[in-house]
Amino acid sequence: MTPALRDFDQLPGPPLWPVVGNLLHVQPARLHLQLEAWCRQYGPVFRLRLGRFGRVVVLGDHGPIAQLLRDRPDGFRRTSRVQDIWTEMGLLPGVFGANGEVWQRQRRMVMHGFDPAHVRGYHPQLQRVAQRLVARWRLAAAGGGDIDLQADLMRFTVDAIAGLAFGAEVDTLSSDEDVIQRHLNRLFPILFRRVFSPLPWWRWVPNADNRALRESVPAIHAAVDGFIRQARDRLHADPARRAAPGNLLEAMLVAADAPDSGIDDAQVAGNVLTMLLAGEDTTANTLAWLIHLLWLNPAELARVRDEVRAVCCVDQAPSLDQLARLEHLEACTHEAMRLKPVAPMNALQALRPTELAGVRIEPGMVVMAAMRHDPMRDELVPHASAFEPDRWRGEGGPAEAAHHPKRVSMPFGAGPRICPGRYLALLEIKTAMAALLTHFDIAHVGTANGQPPEEVLHLAMAPRGLRMRLQARG
Ligand code: HEM
Repeated sequence: MTPALRDFDQLPGPPLWPVVGNLLHVQPARLHLQLEAWCRQYGPVFRLRLGRFGRVVVLGDHGPIAQLLRDRPDGFRRTSRVQDIWTEMGLLPGVFGANGEVWQRQRRMVMHGFDPAHVRGYHPQLQRVAQRLVARWRLAAAGGGDIDLQADLMRFTVDAIAGLAFGAEVDTLSSDEDVIQRHLNRLFPILFRRVFSPLPWWRWVPNADNRALRESVPAIHAAVDGFIRQARDRLHADPARRAAPGNLLEAMLVAADAPDSGIDDAQVAGNVLTMLLAGEDTTANTLAWLIHLLWLNPAELARVRDEVRAVCCVDQAPSLDQLARLEHLEACTHEAMRLKPVAPMNALQALRPTELAGVRIEPGMVVMAAMRHDPMRDELVPHASAFEPDRWRGEGGPAEAAHHPKRVSMPFGAGPRICPGRYLALLEIKTAMAALLTHFDIAHVGTANGQPPEEVLHLAMAPRGLRMRLQARG
């Protein structure tokens, strides 16, 4: 007999307080850890009442989570929080927050930019950025000092993504001042503060954030308009570039120019900024976690190091073919993303009545996926808390098996809105790791007090306070 459907009010969950429900229980910077702890306490389907989010059903099982993520765009949309705040800050919207038909059009355009042939075209630029990372780390190694790991990796991904997105050389690795980046650096912390703020205080008490926005938003729009003009000029001067665009912006403009694309330059500009937002912290934090996990697992570090040194040379940037041969590095990256997913939750809003995990879902209800609950269960992933990259190399059983880690761990999401930047992110990760391991020996990775790094949820989940020390080779 099929079990009866449960209503929201029949679900277990943390005790509710009058009026505020669970709102005061929530600690934004560690919400993912709270969701995971509640999954263990109340089971993988429970309820929260969270202020403006209202009624929230939390899911921890990978099956219903996959069902949720696949039921888009018709069944569920992204909650509008990030996009509303982004728009209120005066920024042009992009694919991440778009829904319905607008999303479909923008997604088509964005996917054109991530076409594997185009991503291959960005490779030389990525290698130039990697050379600057090596130069920066050589200086740090010569000085014998500690490297602020997450901050330096952010410089790498900022330069990589800004270069690919704008088609302009942005260099935060060699100089601390890059004008567009200085303005962008102001935006993202403000966005983060506002997304997690329980009240919209900035509307009532204008402060330094509001002043920064008044200066930075027009400057960013002027810069992006300039990049679009330059890209259009390049496409006009050399029509052959339309078949082989040199960067994401050119590729998006080509797609936008298709007869029935329904896309204008404002939407292209919004998506250039969206790429920066979605692609910088996520990739930098994944790299930081990967390096830390390898340091904690010396046998795996030795395997990856030997693989990289066997395939890549010190005096030449690796080709795409060489990067493709770094299979153990790729397995370690998947394993790092299972243990430390930088997007550990995904909140969606129901557009129509449906059911998930035996619960009746009503339109408007928020369903939150706790992405790391199942990937940490020994019943599904043997020795789940251990770093065992071989599980990604066939030893985990056939890839189509229900419990293969590929099905249980979904660091890039799933379904029609799966991360379009995932291949580019893997390419960046391999490029940075190849640069690190061909040019340096790692002398130490850890926090100042020797404790495991705390997981902090900003827009992406980051390790707090990781330092690295390097010795240059040769
Ligand atoms: C390791 C690095 C990255 C991780 C772990 C990651 C993870 C994610 C996740 C979990 C989502 C939501 C997927 C869903 O709702 O099912 C997403 C969406 C997205 N990501 Fe990434 N991402 C990474 C890198 C990138 C990069 C490098 C870019 C672009 C340069 C990018 C662009 C986007 C965009 C545009 C979306 C929204 C897609 C849509 O709504 O249709 N991401 N990413």
